[in-house]
Amino acid sequence: MQKPIYKRVVLKISGEALAGNKGFGIDQDTLNSIADQIKEIHDLNVEIAIVVGGGNIWRGRDYKEMDRATADYMGMLATVINALALQDALENREVQTRVQTAIEMREIAEPYIRRKAIRHLEKGRVVIFAAGTGNPFFSTDTAAALRAAEIDAEVILLAKKVDGVYDSDPVINPTAQKFTSLDYIDVLNKSLGVMDSTATSLCMDNKIPIIVFGINTPGNIKKVIMGENIGTTVKG
Ligand code: GTP
Repeated sequence: MQKPIYKRVVLKISGEALAGNKGFGIDQDTLNSIADQIKEIHDLNVEIAIVVGGGNIWRGRDYKEMDRATADYMGMLATVINALALQDALENREVQTRVQTAIEMREIAEPYIRRKAIRHLEKGRVVIFAAGTGNPFFSTDTAAALRAAEIDAEVILLAKKVDGVYDSDPVINPTAQKFTSLDYIDVLNKSLGVMDSTATSLCMDNKIPIIVFGINTPGNIKKVIMGENIGTTVKG
């Protein structure tokens, strides 16, 4: 039987991906489909840490008239809502999970403790990291890069609504070309919008490859885990 090419991964799920076609909030069918896909790779004994975004509920950087730090804290709370929804969907599928938050809210979830997170992964639990890095001015992509470095993940799977990185916006430009691979430095120099520069630099400095792919097609996470080149790989 074919084996996964990764043992420990960080799966970054954007908030938008959870909204499906609703555009806002959580679409239950989409959530279920994502949870099915996660279970599929969990069944292959891949250790999975998830970092979830919050843009389907609140995107701090879009609120220009609000104090940026306040708007970012509101965004961090949005990620906690998404984390709990994912936890519920996964546990409905008999996948054990632990949510850890970067801002303490002990009544709801465990606080982030690196060594505990690693232990959970070793025991086969899916760990869902919520509240970003716990700091305003840092994106959840940066949280994914930071957690990946901390837990020694081999790769960041950047699950998006679009199926890779294009030279222009494929929604606006039908002739946009998809890249199959890119260097970190190209992402930084060309402002390709894969990840913000802080997150990309952190991945570059720690040599963590990023695979950008579309999560709304069932089976895609498994394909990536099996080494199929379906999206765009960013590495050095
Ligand atoms: P082991 O150390 O492997 O036994 O891990 P465990 O997570 O099962 O042990 P623990 O006794 O720490 O946790 C039992 C349950 O309580 C799990 O569902 C945890 O997610 C939860 N839990 C642990 N610490 C906290 C916390 O600070 N706040 C909240 N809300 N739940 C917690």
